[in-house]
Amino acid sequence: MDSKAKTANISSFQHEERVFPPAAEFSATAHIKSMAQYRKLYRQSVTDPETFWAGQAERELVWTKPWKKVLQWKVPSAKWFVGGKLNVSANCLDRHLASPTANQAAIIWEGEPAGAGIHGEQRTLTYRQLHREVCLFANVLKRHGLKKGDRVIIYLPMVPEAAIAMLACTRIGVVHSVVFGGFSAQSVADRIADCQARMVITSDGGFRRGTVVQLKKNVDDALALKDAHGELLAKTIEKVVILRRANNDIRVVEGRDIWWHREVEQVSADCPAEPMDSEAPLFILYTSGSTGKPKGILHTTGGYLLTAKLTTKYVFDLRPTDVYWCTADVGWVTGHSYVVYGPLANGATSFMYEGAPNHPEPDRFWRIVAQYGVTILYTAPTAIRAFMKWGEQWPKKHDLSSLRLLGTVGEPINPEAWMWYHEVIGGKRCPIVDTWWQTETGGIMITPLPGATPTKPGTATLPFFGIVPEVVDDQGRPVPRLSGGKLVIRQPWPGMLRGIWGDMDRYQATYWNEVKGSYFTGDGCRQDKDGYFWIVGRIDDVLNVAGHRIGTAEVESALVSHHEVAEAAVVGRPDELKGQALVAFVTVKTGVVADQKLREALRQQVAREIGPVAKPDDIRFAESLPKTRSGKIMRRLLKQVAAGTEIKGDTTTLEDFSVLARLGSSEE
Ligand code: WTA
Repeated sequence: MDSKAKTANISSFQHEERVFPPAAEFSATAHIKSMAQYRKLYRQSVTDPETFWAGQAERELVWTKPWKKVLQWKVPSAKWFVGGKLNVSANCLDRHLASPTANQAAIIWEGEPAGAGIHGEQRTLTYRQLHREVCLFANVLKRHGLKKGDRVIIYLPMVPEAAIAMLACTRIGVVHSVVFGGFSAQSVADRIADCQARMVITSDGGFRRGTVVQLKKNVDDALALKDAHGELLAKTIEKVVILRRANNDIRVVEGRDIWWHREVEQVSADCPAEPMDSEAPLFILYTSGSTGKPKGILHTTGGYLLTAKLTTKYVFDLRPTDVYWCTADVGWVTGHSYVVYGPLANGATSFMYEGAPNHPEPDRFWRIVAQYGVTILYTAPTAIRAFMKWGEQWPKKHDLSSLRLLGTVGEPINPEAWMWYHEVIGGKRCPIVDTWWQTETGGIMITPLPGATPTKPGTATLPFFGIVPEVVDDQGRPVPRLSGGKLVIRQPWPGMLRGIWGDMDRYQATYWNEVKGSYFTGDGCRQDKDGYFWIVGRIDDVLNVAGHRIGTAEVESALVSHHEVAEAAVVGRPDELKGQALVAFVTVKTGVVADQKLREALRQQVAREIGPVAKPDDIRFAESLPKTRSGKIMRRLLKQVAAGTEIKGDTTTLEDFSVLARLGSSEE
């Protein structure tokens, strides 16, 4: 089968009849043991959600003040556990200190430079140690005047200090916004400007595939960037905390830049957790939408934590003996909910790895699994497809028998990748949880429960407790099973976003106007005869490239900001490895030579404006872009062109769309 046919299978029903029921031994000890038990609990959770969620919130979280009302709901604004008070770091740390969990590993970490066979950098923090580190750093934040409600940017590699910084913020009610290390100085500056952050927490570098990522230098550049009126973009920043990580030569600005290790020597390890309102902002995480700049997705305290905790517990069937490894970076929502908050709230052991899966060799993950006895592995389909390509000799070199459960997230998994994961990594014995959710949803929404749900390769199966998904047509009416439509969520849930930072109109318009009264996910979907949900992928102008959400509008605006570009249109094309690849159609200004040099300059331009993650895979020069009579770019046509022909070598292809344009098609 060729590559295109393979990716086309993502949404096919070809494998629908391959059903994998949970193994009896797994179900016997699982939290949820059967479909009957799942159905019963699910029914309760959606017929009387307030009673269900009140019970869960009482059982799972420690509150310093009880709530008065479980839910206050008026589209599009939800308030959960109104009047209640709690603290996230106290729920993730302090509550475990009175139990044997205190001396168990909260975080086990490995740095990338630990090469093959060498005992390199490893660190283990017990709950007690982590608690101490968090208290110290929270006091550092306080010492520099940070207060409840202030915003802080965290721009760190995958090191324990990323979790420590996040938890320290929550301890005193400071709102964090973690920015992925693969984003550029411009992106850092835009985010600082949008949320008016007072501090950046960064490091002198981080290791990725053997090289040092220049995080501090990016921060320096970000703080010097100006907007169109010549004003500094990031002028609200007062202090930059630098973590020593890479022993990298960096610039230290007197009075502004301070060292993490020196600061913690100045403060005490005593820092009481601030009781926070259940609806107090917890974090802002920027994500791409179909228009404009990334939007700051706002999550709040009580509801988010409950969702993170409950989904981690049930979806991964977590127990104290697990070594749980979610491979996501903390810069993405998966890292927030399933590296930090979910596992720690459950008193579990969360494994963290700093670097790339193929450094120094393509067996790094499997070496880690064997060395640390990882029991649960949660990763992305794009990683699984890369492992498939590298070959099964790499996992075969290691003993993977500690694994008992596998998970995937971020994009639809094609059945071939699912089967490979199942056979080669899971040894045919580990259930696979294909989990569908979004930055906006806070936690997993559609997923198998491993002791109960029979799985099928390629579908995220059924909704989690309290979640009411539906597939609807353009009028918002439910479509019959087997037909495609838009995926919406009909009822509010505790972990849902509370808004877009500083732009409630955009919040309403993006999520609540498409299908009146329901949350619109932006995804296309259909249900099979068993009611299983098959996510087809985004139906808006958001691309999913290697599990990263990228807005076509953002990339287009980065391209046209280059002085030689006249117009740009960006579309996705199916890609065997990344799920989708980014294809840009570009027209240049009169007199400009569209050549390989310009193509490279444009890729650099995108890396500068957004970050290396958004660099187009293909840049095609065109004399004009196909437009409808009303002047709208015909994206559907561009998608077909992008998928149909391969650009090879250095040849500059000038696509001639003028003929098509003259046809005046009314498409899109
Ligand atoms: C896609 C990541 C199919 C989907 C947690 C969604 C998936 C977007 C799955 C959110 C899955 C995520 N199957 N598609 N299991 N999980 N997606 O905000 O298109 O980075 O809308 O959150 O990823 O991406 P985000």
